[in-house]
Parts: sequence; C-alpha cells; structure tokens
Amino acid sequence: MDHRTPAPAPDRRRTARGRLPLVLALALLGGGCTGGVEGTPGAAGLRDPYFPGLGNGGYDVTHYGLELDVDPAADRLRGTATITARATQDLSAFHLDLAGLEVAGATVEGRPAAVNRAGRELTLRPASAVEDRLREGRTFTVVVRYSGSPETVTDPDGSKEGWLRTADGAVALGEPAGSMAWFPGNHHPSDKATYDIGITVPEGLAGISNGELVSRRTANGRTAYRWRTAEPMASYLATVAVGRFTTRESVTPDGIRLFTAVDPRSAAASADVLARIPEVLAWSAKRFGPYPFTSAGAIVERAGDSSYALETQNRPVFPGPPDTALLVHELAHQWFGNSVTPASWRDMWLNEGFATYAEWLWAADHEGVPVRESFEAAYADDANWAFPPAEPPTAAELSEPPVYGRGAMVVHRVRLAMNDDRAFFALVKGWTSAHRHANASTDDFTAHVEEETGQDLAALWDAWLYGGSRPPTGAGEP
Ligand code: TRP
Ligand code: ZN
Repeated sequence: MDHRTPAPAPDRRRTARGRLPLVLALALLGGGCTGGVEGTPGAAGLRDPYFPGLGNGGYDVTHYGLELDVDPAADRLRGTATITARATQDLSAFHLDLAGLEVAGATVEGRPAAVNRAGRELTLRPASAVEDRLREGRTFTVVVRYSGSPETVTDPDGSKEGWLRTADGAVALGEPAGSMAWFPGNHHPSDKATYDIGITVPEGLAGISNGELVSRRTANGRTAYRWRTAEPMASYLATVAVGRFTTRESVTPDGIRLFTAVDPRSAAASADVLARIPEVLAWSAKRFGPYPFTSAGAIVERAGDSSYALETQNRPVFPGPPDTALLVHELAHQWFGNSVTPASWRDMWLNEGFATYAEWLWAADHEGVPVRESFEAAYADDANWAFPPAEPPTAAELSEPPVYGRGAMVVHRVRLAMNDDRAFFALVKGWTSAHRHANASTDDFTAHVEEETGQDLAALWDAWLYGGSRPPTGAGEP
C-alpha cells in the first residue's frame, strides 16, 4: 500500500547553512500498516531572504557532472546533468531549479522519474522501486537530459545574466540566479559541490569553464573540452565561455596552475594586466591566507559581451581588458565569496566589502594611497549611505554602493578597533581559514571578530553594519 503525504510544508524553516534545526515533517504511516517511515517531498525553495525560491530542500548536491553540447550558430544547447546528492530527509519527491529549456527525461538511481514543470521548478518523483535509496543520509544519482535555446535572465536590478550571447558564442554568468538557465540544480549559494564540466563546440571555437582542463579532443569537426573543479563551488560561480579565444597555460612560482582565455580582439590590451595575476595572487595570499584553489586565471571577453565582471571560480570573467584594480577585486573574491561563500544573499557585503577593501589595500601598497584616504572618500560619498550593508532593502539593491563601499568601511572599522595591523591580518586569515570552502553569514563574521579580539563590538556593528545613517567617524570606538 502506498501512503504518500501531500504537498510539502512550504514554511519549513531552514537556514542556508542548515544550522537551525530542520523541522522534518515525517509522515508516519497510520496504524495497521506494516511499513516504517515514508518520504515527503523536498521543499521548493530555501527561503533565502532575497530570493526565497532559489535552491531546494531535502538534499545536498555533492557533485555535478555536466555534458554540454553548444552550437552557437544554431543557438542551441544540449545537456546532460548527472547530479549526485545526499538526502537530508526521507524524500518522496524533490525539486531542481531550471529556467527555460526543454527536459527530455530524467532518471533517479537509473530508473525513469516522473518530471513535472512549473515555472523555474522541476519536480522529480522517483520510481517507487528506488524510494528507499532516497532515505535521509543516503546518496543518490539523478540524470536530467535537456536542450534548447538558453534564457538570458534579467536580475531584479535590470542587469543581464544567465546565458549571454556574444559575437562568436556565449558566456554564462550566474550571480545571483543565472546558472539555472544552463543546468538544473540546487541553485542557492549554500549548496556547494564539485563539478566536472564537458563542453563540446564546433572545431575552431573554445569551450572554457572553471577548474582545470583535463582534456581537449577534436573529432568530426567538434572539439570536446573537459574541465574539473575538485574544490567546492557555489553554482552562481560556475561559468562556460564559448567562442574564439587565445588560451595560455602556465604555473605560477607558487605552484598554482594558470589558464587564461582571451578574446583575440582583447588580447593586446589585456596582456600587461593578466601578466600580473601571479603577483596579485601572491600579494593577496600574504594578506588573506593561502590561495584556496589549485588553479586560477581569467576569461576576457570583448566590451559589450557582458556589461560587468564576475568572480567566476578560479577564472573570473571580464567584459574586456580589466585594469589592475578590477583584477585585484575579482581575485580577492576567490577568498571572499568563492571559498568563504555567503550563507544567503543577505551576506553579500562579506563578498563585496572585502573585495573592495582588497582594492584599498592594493592602492596603499602600490599606488601610495593610504587606506585612510580610501575610507574617507567612501565615507564622503552619499551613495554609500543609502542603506546598511547587512540589510539591503530589496533584491534590486544587492549590488548597490553600500554593499561595496560601506562594506569595506566595516572591515576598516574592525581594523581601527583592533589598532594592531598584525593582529588584524591574522584575524582576516583566521576568517578565511575557519570557513574555507564553506559558507558564512554576517553573524558568523561578527562572532568571529568578537571572539578573536575579545571585544564587545556591538556599538561598531550597530553604527557601521546596521545603522540607518552615516555615523560620526568615532562611532563604534571600543
Ligand atoms: N560580483 C560582481 C563583482 O563585484 C558584481 C555582480 C555581478 C553582482 N552580478 C551581481 C553583485 C549580482 C550582486 C548581485 O565583481
Ligand atoms: Zn565584487
């Protein structure tokens, strides 16, 4: 007999890090039945404060295997996603996020699964024969075959992400919600996973992605690139770039593998700044701790192909030749954002505040601009005071100046409160090491600082992180 419970309880509370108790609505079989506990459907979203529908409940993805066939001339993507996940509850069904595209079919544990589509939510109901493989704690495999012309996603602030067409191909950008335009998954930053991404493109084009190039083979007029990301990655940091690229491989003196892919029309103008990647990584490691990944590099498009840079893991995407400050910013994100990833989109300032602070530190060390001057300029700029960095009013304001400039001011106020540069940089390194390859929230940060300094910094947080208006410069002094 098959007692299925009805719809999931959508108000199930679960923090992005899963630290609050997950209220499991376990459905006990009624009296007289011989069975034990049956599964319930996983939630359709993780209740992110800004994007409640992103991600899905009931499982954690450990690995994505993506096989992508991209034909830019036909504007077509054909994909197979093999997702390995661990159930965090007994599941009778579960969701994947996918925007656009057509799903040809799916299997769970090798058996055809029923697929239902509602907007950007795919619901998969596994065959009853494999239901016991989706018990809490067990690892299961999902395969989804899909194809179509991928969507360009418009953010709440109007900027474009997802699948962006370029003159000779496409580039995929995923912050905060664009990666669901090219593969189904658990698209919330709290669920990090390793990736194997294979991209097959017409011969003459390149298919670039994150991590390390494992192989590149041409047959029958198609070239297959295989990339491996063995360190955990949030899905918003995954990328593929298809097009004509000049590629370069090398190893830094510190043993980090470098791979750069540059649109030939941006090559001459970006050569000097890309040559500084090893230097910027070494400088960053001195301040922030060891580089968190085994490979690094850059993808440089042409201006107009995308309108902004993104810190895609290992290999940031630049919309044309970057200047040094932008390179420093995106490489700093490899520590702040990519290794230490926000627990929810509310914690964005931990990404942008630190990446902006990295620019200030670089300017102090290389351009003779004291950090105090950068701080004062940010303090004087009204745009930085529109709202507190830890509480953007809406999703449309997540990448507004307070998240960057005021976020960096918070970091500097911590440094001033400590009044000891050696201790400050030790604290920053302790932060990147404590949450390496994991997730962290604003509360984790303030707790870390208070523990490391032994100070009660409530006044500092109230004034600089949460306060509604510009505090006097002495505010929050311990
Ligand atoms: N993270 C990017 C950077 O500063 C900027 C960005 C792109 C962004 N898309 C976003 C920030 C969406 C917030 C939300 O390097
Ligand atoms: Zn940034």
